[in-house]
Amino acid sequence: MVEVEGQRNHILDAMKPRNIFLISGLVTFVVLAAVFAVFQVTDNRAVTASTGSAEIGGPFQLTDQDGRQVDESLLQDRLNVIYFGYTFCPDVCPTTLQDISTALDMMGEDGDQVQSIFITVDPERDTVEVVKDYVGWFRPGTVGLTGSVEQVEAVKAAYKVYSTKAPQEDDETGENYLVDHTSITYVMGPDGSFVTHFSHGTSPEDMAKKLGDLL
Ligand code: NI
Repeated sequence: MVEVEGQRNHILDAMKPRNIFLISGLVTFVVLAAVFAVFQVTDNRAVTASTGSAEIGGPFQLTDQDGRQVDESLLQDRLNVIYFGYTFCPDVCPTTLQDISTALDMMGEDGDQVQSIFITVDPERDTVEVVKDYVGWFRPGTVGLTGSVEQVEAVKAAYKVYSTKAPQEDDETGENYLVDHTSITYVMGPDGSFVTHFSHGTSPEDMAKKLGDLL
C-alpha cells in the first residue's frame, strides 16, 4: 500500500507541471485561433470587397525558376492558381502547395489546364536556384517566381499580399528568420483578372471541385 501510495504521489507530482504545460498550451492555442480568425475575417473582407474587380492582380515583372523574365502574360490562356509564400517556410507553404498539387492531380487531364504558380515573398533567400529546387518537390509544371526586392514588393502590392520578417531568437547570423505572410490562394483567370480565392486550409477536394467548375 505504501508503495502504491508513493507511486500515486509520484504520478500526481509528475502531472502538475504537465497540467500547467497543457493549460498554457491550450491558452496559446485559443489565442492563436482567435488571432487567426480575425486575420481570416480581414482577408475575406479584403478579397470580397474587390471580388470581380481588377483590384487584385495586375502587371508584374519577375524571374521564373529557369531564369526567364516573365510578366503578367504568363497567366494568359489558362486558369491560374497563385500562392505567395517562401521556401524556408516550415509548414503552411509546403502544405498549401502540396494541397494545390494534389487538387490538380485529382482533376485528371483537366488539371493540366490549370497553372500552379508559387511567388516568393522572400527574394533575398529565394534565389532562382533555390526556387527551382523548391518547385521540384511539387506537381510537375509548378512555376516558381522570384525577383528583386522591389519587383516582389510590387507584385505583393498588386495582389494585396502582406508579409513581414519575423526574426528568431538565437539566430546569430540573422539569416534564419521566418516570414509572417498572407496565406490565401488566388485563382486568376486567363485574362489575368481575379476569379476567386481559397482560404488557408481549403482541402484539395474542395479546390479540385471549384477549379473544375471554373473550367
Ligand atoms: Ni508560409
